[in-house]
Amino acid sequence: MSISFELKLNDVAAQVEQALEGLLSPQARPGETRRPARLLAAMRHAALGGGKRLRPFLTLETAALFDVAPEAAMRAACALEMVHCYSLVHDDLPAMDDDDLRRGRPTVHKAYDEATAILAGDSLLTYAFDILSDPATHDDPALRCQLVRHLALASGLGGMAGGQALDLEAERSDKPLTMDEILEMQAMKTGALLQQAVEAGALLGLASPVQMRRLSRFGALIGAAFQIADDLLDARSDAATLGKRAGKDAGRNKATLVSMLGVDVAGHRCDSLVDEAVGALQGLELGSRTDVLIEAARFVAGRSS
Ligand code: IPE
Ligand code: IPE
Ligand code: MG
Ligand code: MG
Ligand code: MG
Repeated sequence: MSISFELKLNDVAAQVEQALEGLLSPQARPGETRRPARLLAAMRHAALGGGKRLRPFLTLETAALFDVAPEAAMRAACALEMVHCYSLVHDDLPAMDDDDLRRGRPTVHKAYDEATAILAGDSLLTYAFDILSDPATHDDPALRCQLVRHLALASGLGGMAGGQALDLEAERSDKPLTMDEILEMQAMKTGALLQQAVEAGALLGLASPVQMRRLSRFGALIGAAFQIADDLLDARSDAATLGKRAGKDAGRNKATLVSMLGVDVAGHRCDSLVDEAVGALQGLELGSRTDVLIEAARFVAGRSS
């Protein structure tokens, strides 16, 4: 992975941080009565000061392929990052993965309390749709509606939340998942939001149907690779490097490709998914402009946290 890619990712992460900071200010917006301080603090704990910001990076860089106005892309990127942060807050709850460390800090329910963590997640999720449906994101209401619908489908019953339900069901069952069931569960719990990251940029860019199909496939493939890499890091790394506890998946009977295939085979599979993702970008006819997405795909498999 090139140093220049990491610098670019860090640079974009700083811009995302700044935009999220603005959205999560204490000032109530028109239509809001007020922003309760403790709930807002918990949302800020969840959304600010950490994270790789890979999903917003993918939205911004995909939108940039089509010369989308950066402010519009940043709002869509922040909406998605809010959904991702909410998913982490709820994923860490005692009723789910029961984790106490996230992004190098106590999880939201540890720093605050469980009720506040649930509500912080709820408020981040709903804020995402507020942002996307706001005319400040795009002046075409039909496009805003498409952004809302894509994110809703990726986040809910048939996407992230549904995948999380299957993950927990598998953990609590005596019957191991088949390979296909693991792939489907991971495509839902993790792949859907990474795919949506790319699709949001393509929607804003008014990508052609062929471009949308290829970019969407790219997103799904790196999403699949991303969860394998996460599971490999859980098996091989440590809390100091990851900013979250390692070695949890085996202890919790999580259904992963690492537990099914072992680290070596799962690692190869992750690499070949990335190669396939890079292949999906061929034919976009955007020349070297897609290089940054290729590097992002390589980062997914090669990252250390
Ligand atoms: C962690 O996502 C949760 C998974 C979907 C595996 P990230 O590894 O992107 O977490 P942050 O945003 O960088 O903290
Ligand atoms: C989480 O997967 C996927 C989400 C939708 C949040 P994990 O449970 O493996 O994520 P980490 O390891 O806690 O970040
Ligand atoms: Mg989980
Ligand atoms: Mg977890
Ligand atoms: Mg994990």
